[in-house]
Amino acid sequence: MSRRIPDAVIEGILKHYDIVDVVGRYVHLSKQGHYMKGLCPFHSEKSPSFTVTPEKQIYHCFGCHAGGNVIHFIMGVETLSFTEAVRQLAEEASIPVDWEPVSEQQTEQQREAKSLYEAYEFSAKFYNYILLNTEQGKTALDYLRSRGMNDRLIEAFQLGYSPNMRNKLAEILEKRGYDLILMERGGLLSRRDDGSYADKFRDRVMFPIHDQKGRIIAFGGRAMGDIQPKYMNSPETMLFNKSRNMYNFHQARAAIRKTRSVVLLEGYVDVIKTWEAGIVNGVASMGTALTREHASLLRRNAEQAIICYDGDNAGQSAAYKSIDLLEKEGMHVKVAYIPGGQDPDEYISQYGGERFRREIIEGAYTSLKFKLLYIRRHYNLQDVDGKFRYIEAALKLVAELESPVEREHYVKELASEFPYASDNFMQQLNGYRQDLLKKRQPGDNPDISWNNVINNGNPKEKIKAVPAHLKAEAALIAAMLHDREAAEQVQDQLGEQFSSELHAALAAYLYAYYAQGFDPDVSRFVATLQDERLEQAATSLSMEDYTPVLSALEHYILTVKLYPQLKQLKHLEAEAGRIADPLEAARRIQEIRKEIQALEKQLKSL
Ligand code: UTP
Ligand code: MN
Repeated sequence: MSRRIPDAVIEGILKHYDIVDVVGRYVHLSKQGHYMKGLCPFHSEKSPSFTVTPEKQIYHCFGCHAGGNVIHFIMGVETLSFTEAVRQLAEEASIPVDWEPVSEQQTEQQREAKSLYEAYEFSAKFYNYILLNTEQGKTALDYLRSRGMNDRLIEAFQLGYSPNMRNKLAEILEKRGYDLILMERGGLLSRRDDGSYADKFRDRVMFPIHDQKGRIIAFGGRAMGDIQPKYMNSPETMLFNKSRNMYNFHQARAAIRKTRSVVLLEGYVDVIKTWEAGIVNGVASMGTALTREHASLLRRNAEQAIICYDGDNAGQSAAYKSIDLLEKEGMHVKVAYIPGGQDPDEYISQYGGERFRREIIEGAYTSLKFKLLYIRRHYNLQDVDGKFRYIEAALKLVAELESPVEREHYVKELASEFPYASDNFMQQLNGYRQDLLKKRQPGDNPDISWNNVINNGNPKEKIKAVPAHLKAEAALIAAMLHDREAAEQVQDQLGEQFSSELHAALAAYLYAYYAQGFDPDVSRFVATLQDERLEQAATSLSMEDYTPVLSALEHYILTVKLYPQLKQLKHLEAEAGRIADPLEAARRIQEIRKEIQALEKQLKSL
């Protein structure tokens, strides 16, 4: 639901709060020159790299690059959406929040949402009552007990049973005045041909699904016999979105944040059984593969993810796919492998929770080790050719590691398995590493932004050499954040010609921001972005020292303009031999050289 929050509300919030006070409620801050310093609440660290700049009303972490204004801070620490954070802050500041029901349709939507929340809550109680207190619920209760669910777990997870009756729930919901059409859309009832309503879930063990605030937004219902589908889930509604919500996130959140680690499971029962085994930071995606939205939710709450899917082929291949998704979000990933094709529930039932924790979770593999074990099964290592192809594939995976020490570790491990000298492994690996680096031309890859290296506290450590044109782009954005005239000049001379997509997007937002007549104000500007990557980049860039020097600005603009020309020249020269019309190619090369010379001349004259 995207709805427009009036500028005045955001303005009001930014004026009302001092970010130092708000952050101070969560983080112990101490003054250090222009800014305040403390331990970052968004990643675990021992020495403080989290800063708050009162003058700009923003926060920024040099370790994990989280950053933004007071609204983003609340979004992050409270895990709220932008709208929710605005609402919470506005309410506290007594800023009227009557901006929501601007249209008839929105009031209608809110009314429906409220009614659905209530109906789900009521239905969960109904299912739970049937399970625990009625004759009809007895089989289901026996079933749950046979699966190791005690009273405590049934209560904690609000489990229930939908009776095997045509329309028991429908009747009660109707009596209580619920709109049955809405109940059908919400997945509780289904409409029959004769216009009457019947219960959707029948004779199933019910698992309520909650949102992050702990409100019930859907159900999963498990059949007890051999009935297909095994699990029936509520449809997606305005409250329930499978690609965003995760089972048990609301209960696990505190532990996830505290340990900065999350355990990813596949099934409802797995979550409950691992919970009983003492793992209270477990969540599951429900009947769908992990999505980027899930990964981003997890990343906002933890640094480490331990994937613990079923030990069968499907589970392992899902684990393989989830690794990249989580690592792309910047998480540190491990994979806990369960032997014998079992799932966590089966393993715990057979060997107990203590052994599950010790051997499976604590013994989780690094993501690379898991990948190596995973691909290995596809090769016949008895066969010489199969062996070579495995080694090749394995070394290519190792080559992707950024840390030379880690690369060496895995190469040695791999080499020790085969009767070949480890120097040869190293040599082959280095070849793959070179190929990889060549493919990764800086500037062509928007993911390699100028400062996205995660480090722990020491900003000098591990920072990669940044190509000149990207440095220049960053400096331009920094200037534009502080200076309207700089923004106008860049808009005139460069427009959208940034080579990093991130920079191009920020520039476009800045042009729009100033076009609306606002004055430079980082905190206000980041409020217009509504995209985490952009917010972080903007805050981070605004931390750069900025002194308005006109010639510097021109220098940066020319440097940025020069880059695509140099790139094209290189490309043309390399391709010239293969181009059908050599004269045309030569003419084009000549033309670009001239443009480059002109730009270089201008640069020198500054
Ligand atoms: P599994 O088939 O692994 O089931 O599905 P499970 O969790 O081990 O369930 P039990 O132990 O047999 O009771 C994993 C998850 O995939 C979704 C559910 O969320 C389930 O927990 N799923 C599975 C469905 O949505 N529908 C299905 O028919 C099956
Ligand atoms: Mn299972």
